[in-house]
Amino acid sequence: KGPATVSPTGQATGADPAAVAQGGQFLTTAHGARLQDSDHSLKAGRRGPTLLQDHHLREKISHFDHERIPERVVHARGAGAHGVFRGYGTAAKISQAGLFAKDKETEVFVRFSTVLGSRGSSDLARDTRGFAVKFYTDEGTWDLVGNNMPVFFIQDAIKFPDVVHAAKPHPDREIPQAQSAHDTFWDFVSLHTEAQHHTIWNMSDRGIPRSYRTMEGFGIHTFRLIAADGSTVLVKFHWKPKLGAHSVTWEEALITNGADPDYHRRDLADAIEAGAFPEWELGVQVFEDNEEQMFEGIDLLDPTKIVPEELVPVQPLGLMTLNANPSNYFAETEQVAFNPANLVPGIDVTNDPLLQGRLFSYLDTQITRLGGPNWTQLPINRPHAAVNDMLRDGMHQSAVHRGVAPYRPNTLDGGLPFETPADERPFIDAPAPIEAGVKERAVAASFEDHFSQARLFFLSLSEVEREHVAQAYTFELGKCYEQTIRERQLAHLGAIDERLAAQVAAGLGMEVPAPTQAPADVTPSPALSQVGKEWPL
Ligand code: HEM
Repeated sequence: KGPATVSPTGQATGADPAAVAQGGQFLTTAHGARLQDSDHSLKAGRRGPTLLQDHHLREKISHFDHERIPERVVHARGAGAHGVFRGYGTAAKISQAGLFAKDKETEVFVRFSTVLGSRGSSDLARDTRGFAVKFYTDEGTWDLVGNNMPVFFIQDAIKFPDVVHAAKPHPDREIPQAQSAHDTFWDFVSLHTEAQHHTIWNMSDRGIPRSYRTMEGFGIHTFRLIAADGSTVLVKFHWKPKLGAHSVTWEEALITNGADPDYHRRDLADAIEAGAFPEWELGVQVFEDNEEQMFEGIDLLDPTKIVPEELVPVQPLGLMTLNANPSNYFAETEQVAFNPANLVPGIDVTNDPLLQGRLFSYLDTQITRLGGPNWTQLPINRPHAAVNDMLRDGMHQSAVHRGVAPYRPNTLDGGLPFETPADERPFIDAPAPIEAGVKERAVAASFEDHFSQARLFFLSLSEVEREHVAQAYTFELGKCYEQTIRERQLAHLGAIDERLAAQVAAGLGMEVPAPTQAPADVTPSPALSQVGKEWPL
């Protein structure tokens, strides 16, 4: 399974990674010298002073001093699990990716996370949850780096630093640790109204899941699949938990956060240990790949929009089963590095401007977080496909590359050709259309509706769920110090639903301001005649 390189001792680097540090019978230094005593420093006389000469003391303390690596800039708190994905064979007409083939099994590693809290924060915070899946396919690693909500706060990656600055704790007092109850968050989402749709999902019960095992997952962006004959379709990925989607109430979340801040990670680990393996079906909504890249007025490149599942049903492609806990949190859950740019033949990206920025960001941040460019050599990140790249040297390089000509083609190292022939399944970027136009910093008109889907979501909820939404806005906005921010957000609630605005205003003891705009005319449950047809798979 290891890359096509060897370690200095001639062993394949894919060999048991524990053997690197835990071989032999006796305690040793990092250099392998056996130790007689690891509890007493070397002193001049029994009562000291301690000698600088004590190499074991210095090695032990110095290594400890450097045990921590930076936490992720977002999604710092997470829990991981290993598992397997089994294809149903239903994707054959729309994607050539080998992992979808019937009964094909592919190992996966999944990391669930909260977004905003630090590594030590509590699990039941009201927040979006990360749902990142690494598929170790024979054809390279595919990362589907999604969330438990189908839309995102912003439409363009250039705003990502801003939304994260606004949502993370205030820079002066570092509060609140892990909730959206503060001025900068509400200032941002009320000024950038594209965030209103994602925000109402956060204020709903979806913001406090019962368990990682009972969360849906979404790829959010529209992706492009490429079939063996070169034809393409556009898809949105969905994970459907076999246990169904469940949440807790706010009161339960508050008590759980106090009594057991590790509740979600404990639940996941305990279930797997007990053999109750959680399962999700991976499915897709499929759309024609044409120049417009729209579905009935919904811009498929806008990550703040869904396409209702009644209109385009989710069609299953395979089943994921999580069946093993990590044996070392740091080596697996902490060092795993996901990247939406990790694609395999048959799966490609679209021009969604949020996705385009993500394609740069992950690799870039991981160079800092994991100390240089060679983290694909860490055991959890190693592809399960043969690797033969021309990347060389760098910090923490652990491969000893052979040859003298790290470029292709060359006439020195056997003259291997650069190109992979078509019948050996190379990755090919789909020849997708691009819209001719002017180079400019601007947004498409089809991205400008910020309220109708927030209303659609609210109207799709039951009365009890709507009540929870109103209570959540009241609680969270109640923690804002700035009255003008509350007023601005209340006006937006009026554009989503007038009763919602009135209820939250009453809870805050405020007047109901004029709505930002009249609520849109949307129908939450389409008539049966409108129910969409499945794509012919
Ligand atoms: C981390 C999802 C947008 C930058 C993550 C993680 C998830 C995720 C699940 C945690 C991965 C893990 O468990 O290790 C998403 C989704 C997005 C989105 C679903 C929108 C649809 C963005 C954007 C950017 C970004 C627009 C930057 C332009 C990052 C960074 C990390 C991260 C820097 C930390 C990665 C690391 O340290 O390994 N994201 N994200 N994300 N995301 Fe995103």
